[in-house]
Amino acid sequence: MLRVNENYLKLPGSYLFSTIGKKVSAYAQANPEKEIIRLGIGDVTQPLAPAIIEAMHRAVDEMGSPETFRGYAPDLGYAFLRDAIVKNDYEARGCQIYADEIFVSDGAKSDSANIQELFAGDCKIAVCDPVYPVYVDSNVMAGRTGTFEERTGMWSDVIYMPCVMENQFVPEFPKETPDVIYLCLPNNPTGTTITKSQLQEWVDYANKNGALIIYDGAYEAYISREEVAHSIYECDGARTCAIELKSFSKNAGFTGVRLGYTVVPKELKFGGASLRDMWARRHGTKYNGAPYIVQRAGEAVYSEAGKKQLKDQVAYYMNNARVIYDGLKKAGYTVFGGVDAPYIWLKTPEGMSSWEFFDYLLERANVVGTPGSGFGPSGEGYFRLTAFSSFENTSAALARIREL
Ligand code: MLT
Repeated sequence: MLRVNENYLKLPGSYLFSTIGKKVSAYAQANPEKEIIRLGIGDVTQPLAPAIIEAMHRAVDEMGSPETFRGYAPDLGYAFLRDAIVKNDYEARGCQIYADEIFVSDGAKSDSANIQELFAGDCKIAVCDPVYPVYVDSNVMAGRTGTFEERTGMWSDVIYMPCVMENQFVPEFPKETPDVIYLCLPNNPTGTTITKSQLQEWVDYANKNGALIIYDGAYEAYISREEVAHSIYECDGARTCAIELKSFSKNAGFTGVRLGYTVVPKELKFGGASLRDMWARRHGTKYNGAPYIVQRAGEAVYSEAGKKQLKDQVAYYMNNARVIYDGLKKAGYTVFGGVDAPYIWLKTPEGMSSWEFFDYLLERANVVGTPGSGFGPSGEGYFRLTAFSSFENTSAALARIREL
């Protein structure tokens, strides 16, 4: 008889945003007259930029004619997109990345979950705490995390690096040396980040210890400070220790379109094996590529018109971030993030847990946020609000919160 992958059975509860979705639906059903404002999941609300829509229309027309119809995409993604990525995201920043090190995919979420397939079952992972849940859950599914301890909310074989108010949300080098280090910068969920020189220390640490950094740069477009790196490859030595994940979801509003890419430099060799070649093998076997229409949409992100329109879109969301940040401050909350990232991270009021504050905000202000403890034990006592709603809803939500 079939035996299931019992690692799945170790996962406590459901995926964080599914749990929240169910809670909010139940509340909405019981209170149909309430107008709920959602500042929970980091899903965008603004329409796709005109340059992207035009590119998609053109690509759709090409698909309707025998001369320009396209079938399967090339394994790594179309050259027109990978070349645009190299030129704009790397060469323009002085980083040396080659087109055959870029793997186009349907988004950073799936890549961040799948990348662990390249590592041995007994590799030790280190994560920031709080953390985007996908990194840990995907390693749980692969049987790499040991047992879950209800009392601490931690997995026995995961190295946690607390990022809390007391250390300015900057992860410290762990006592035990990890094999794989997940870093998401600017950070989801805390909305904070580290400087390029602090990132350089992580690159040096990884190289010295033979560890690999999985660098999730999904929120890079929101960086406003000069001293923050836009790519880990701006750091010396990153080609020998880092894989970078990038998304088009947050910088271009592709949460529903789906597009991302992963950079695996050729220098990444462990035990003589090339991670780039292994990832290429996996891509070829398990994936048929992002659709042509979507890759053309991605190319338009790098057009002159696209860049200008998306800069305005990012500014729109960052204005929301300011509204949230300032509004919460005026209401007396202790607030973080929102400067280089579209997330605001706040301390829950004295004596209230993250989930208690979730219920309080939902019931009293009809505003949905994300409980910090859903991202890991060190998130307890914190709460996340996203700047991805409309300006009108963001302002209305803050007016309600300030009235509480
Ligand atoms: C979040 O709310 O943390 C993000 O939307 C999740 C994601 O990007 O998958």
